[in-house]
Formats: sequence, C-alpha cells, structure tokens
Amino acid sequence: MLQRLKSARQDRPVDFFRGFLDRPMQVGSVIPSSRFLERRVVGAADLADARVVVELGPGTGGSTRALLKALPADATLIAIEINPDFVKVLKRHMPDPRLIVHEGSAEDVRGALAKHGFEAADVVISGIPFSTMPEALGAAIVSEVHASLVPGGRFVAYQVRDKVHELGRRVFGRARVKTELRNVPPMRVYRWERTREAS
Ligand SMILES: C[S@@+](CC[C@H](N)C(=O)[O-])C[C@H]1O[C@@H](n2cnc3c(N)ncnc32)[C@H](O)[C@@H]1O
Repeated sequence: MLQRLKSARQDRPVDFFRGFLDRPMQVGSVIPSSRFLERRVVGAADLADARVVVELGPGTGGSTRALLKALPADATLIAIEINPDFVKVLKRHMPDPRLIVHEGSAEDVRGALAKHGFEAADVVISGIPFSTMPEALGAAIVSEVHASLVPGGRFVAYQVRDKVHELGRRVFGRARVKTELRNVPPMRVYRWERTREAS
C-alpha cells in the first residue's frame, strides 16, 4: 500500500518526509509544495523565453517537474540541492535531458553555472527556507542570486514567513507579492527583477 502511494505521487512525499526528519531546519517543510503553489510559481517565473533557469532547493522534485513542463525544449534547468539524499532521488527519478542536478549550496550559484558551461541565469527560483537559516547566510544567498542573473532576469521565491522579502528588498528593491492559500501551509510568492542598467 505504502509502495503504491509512493509511486503514485511523483513528488515522493515519503522520501521528502524522511529528509525533513533528518534535517528539519534545512528542509523547512514536512510535505512538498502543492500543485496550486507549483502553478503559481511557474506563472511568476515567466519561463516562455528563458534559456537558463536555476532552481534552489528542488527537494524530491515535485516543483522541478512543474518547471520542466513549462520550460522551452532548448532550455536548461540547473537544480541546486544541498541534501545528498534528495540529490540521489532526483538523479534516479528525473531523466529529463534539460535537467542538471547539482549537489551544492545556493551560496554558489555562479560556481554551479560555470561548472556546467553557463555565465548567468535568466531566472532563479527558490524554495529554500530563508527564515530558518542564519541571517548572514540568507543575505549572502540573495546577493549571490542577484549577481548570477542577467540584467532583466527574474528571482522568484516562495516562503511562509517574510524573511526573504526583507533580504530581497535590500538587494533587488520592491517585490511583486502573491499569496497561495491552497498549500499547507499557505505561501507567499515573491518576484523580483534585476534592473537592466545594473552592472
Ligand atoms: C521546503 S523544501 C522545498 C522543496 C521543493 N522545492 C518543493 O517546493 O516542494 C526546501 C529545500 O531546500 C533545500 N535547501 C536548504 N538549504 C539549501 C541551500 N543552502 N542550498 C541548496 N538547497 C538548500 C532543502 O534540502 C530542501 O530540499
């Protein structure tokens, strides 16, 4: 029965929950994002013309699968995941040729891009829990995201608490904010753009 449930749900909730028990602060949620939240994040990311997209914290891949569905056929998605158990799940169950699963930290987005032959990202999407990490680490990640984006590039982050809003405002300026109630717990989705004149 459990096995049938596991294979029916493509976001692998059992693997995800196990990951949460191992590293609660880093995973930050007991279940993966809902389909409604995934759709809202995909809409905010505006992927139709994107060529290089980075996902921070793909977890067990539910959000990654939603991003791949919306991604152009010739685009690349680099999914940066810090948890080696989640990396194994992603590599085993997500054979899409557009997807590169990169084990590492969101602190080094440019290092991940360079390792795979890219200079900058058109879009960065983040599900990592900024409110449970040290403030300095969160600030460093947001600055790194900004530096990794092309001018006009988008940063989309979904969170329960508004820590990322505070950090993002310092670097990017004002965010566009939407709330998705059909998720446990309800989430805010923030979207910023790197200004075109920034160097
Ligand atoms: C709330 S889960 C989101 C999972 C999935 N994206 C979803 O929406 O269901 C947060 C994820 O961020 C990862 N994570 C936390 N800190 C990270 C970091 N510094 N770099 C990369 N991934 C990180 C965790 O291991 C976990 O997979």
